[in-house]
Amino acid sequence: MIGIFDSGIGGMTVARAIEQLLPDHPLIYYGDIARTPYGPKSPQTIINYSIRNTEFLLDKGAKLIVIACNSASSVATKILRERFRVPIIEVISPAARRATEISKTGRIGVIGTKATVKSGIYQQTINAERPDFKIFSQACPLLVPLVEENWLNKRETKMILRRYLHPLKNKQIDTLVLGCTHYPLLSNLIQARIGKRVQLIDSSIQTASFVREYLVRHPECSSEQAKASHTYYASDCTETALNVAERIFHRPMELIVA
Ligand code: DGL
Repeated sequence: MIGIFDSGIGGMTVARAIEQLLPDHPLIYYGDIARTPYGPKSPQTIINYSIRNTEFLLDKGAKLIVIACNSASSVATKILRERFRVPIIEVISPAARRATEISKTGRIGVIGTKATVKSGIYQQTINAERPDFKIFSQACPLLVPLVEENWLNKRETKMILRRYLHPLKNKQIDTLVLGCTHYPLLSNLIQARIGKRVQLIDSSIQTASFVREYLVRHPECSSEQAKASHTYYASDCTETALNVAERIFHRPMELIVA
C-alpha cells in the first residue's frame, strides 16, 4: 500500500496524480490539517510532524511513503530515511530531474514556501546534476492561503503573483518549478504572468511518474488489486479543507479524522 502524507490538503494534488496513474494500487493519505501550514515553520517542527505522519501511515500498513509536501520533503527526507526502513519518496527530486531535462538555457526558477526556498534544496539537487545551471528561487508565502480561500481569479491574487514573479521575469528563466503542492491550482495564472515561453513543472505529476517507475523496479512494494481502496485521513476536517479537496479531485470527498 502506498502511504502519502502532506501538511494538509495540498498534497492531494500528488495523491490525485498517483490515483490517476496507478488506479489499481491501494493508497492511504494523511493530511495534517490540524498543524497546517508547514511552510512558515522551523525545520525541527516540520521534522517532528513528518515523523508522526510517517508512523501513522506505517501503522495503517503502508509499504512505501510519499512525502507529498515540498516543505516536508525539503527538510525531513534525510531523517525519515535514516529512521524508517521503508522506501521514502519525496517531491523534490522528480521535479528537479524534469527541470534539468527540459531547460535549454540552464536558467531555472523555483517558487515555494519559505521553508522550501530557505532550505536551498532545489538548487542543491539541480546543481548536483548540472553545476552549470543557474537557479533563481522565490518564496511566495501568501499563495497557499489564497488558494485555500479559493481566491484563484481575484485581482488581488493576480497582483500578488505579479509581485512575486517579477524578480524571476528579469532573470530570463525558461523553466519554472512549482515547488509547492498548492501551486498547480494557480498554474494558469502563473503561466499568464511568467509568459508562454517559460515551461512550468508540476511536481505532483513528476512525482506520480516517479512512484510508478519505482514500483516497476520494486514489485515487492506493489500490491495491485482490482477496486483498490483509496482512503483519506486527516488530523482535522474543516469546511475550507473539504472545499479544496473537492476542487482537486472534482468529486465529493470523505476525510476520516484520526
Ligand atoms: N504542502 C506545503 C508545500 O508543498 C504547502 C502548504 C504548507 O505550507 O503547509 O510546501
